[in-house]
Amino acid sequence: MKNYKVLFVCLGNICRSPAGEGIFKKLVKEQGWEDKVIVDSAGTSGYHDGELPDPRMRRHGARRGYKFDSLSRKFTSKDFYDFDIILAMDDSNYHNIMRLAPDLDSQKKVYRMVEFSQRFGHDHIPDPYYSGADGFELVLDLLEDACEGLIDQIKKGGL
Ligand code: 4NP
Repeated sequence: MKNYKVLFVCLGNICRSPAGEGIFKKLVKEQGWEDKVIVDSAGTSGYHDGELPDPRMRRHGARRGYKFDSLSRKFTSKDFYDFDIILAMDDSNYHNIMRLAPDLDSQKKVYRMVEFSQRFGHDHIPDPYYSGADGFELVLDLLEDACEGLIDQIKKGGL
C-alpha cells in the first residue's frame, strides 16, 4: 500500500475536523497503518489558533471512545505540498481551500468528506457550533461513516 498524508479541514478546526482526525486515526491504528498514514487537521479561518477542540466535541467524542486533543491551526497553501488527500467538511470549506490551490494537481487532492459516505446521504457535514447535543452526535455519525468509506477507498487503491 502507498503512504498517505490526510488532512481534515473545517472552518474553526475545533469541532468537525479534529473529530475527523481523531476518528480516522483510530481506524488507521486498527488497520495497523500507523507507519503508512499521517493524519492532521486544520481550519480555513484561524479564529481558534492554538486552541484544543470545543469541550462539547471532546465530550461527545469521549463517550464513543475517542480522544480529540489536537490544537487548532489555520489551513495554508503550504498544506497542498504536505498532504495527498484534503477533506472539506462543507461547500464553504471546499471553496476556501480551492481558492488557495496553486495548481491543478493541488486541486485534485481536495474532496468533500461526504463523497466517502456509505450509509448517509447528507451533502455536507453540518457545522455543530451553534447546535445542541444532537448536532454533535450527527457530526460523529457522519464522520464515522465517511471515515470508514475513506479506509475502504484506500484499500481498493481508489485514491
Ligand atoms: P468547526 O466549527 O468549523 O467544525 O470547527 C466551528 C467552530 C467555530 C466557529 C465556527 C464553526 N466560529 O465561528 O468561531
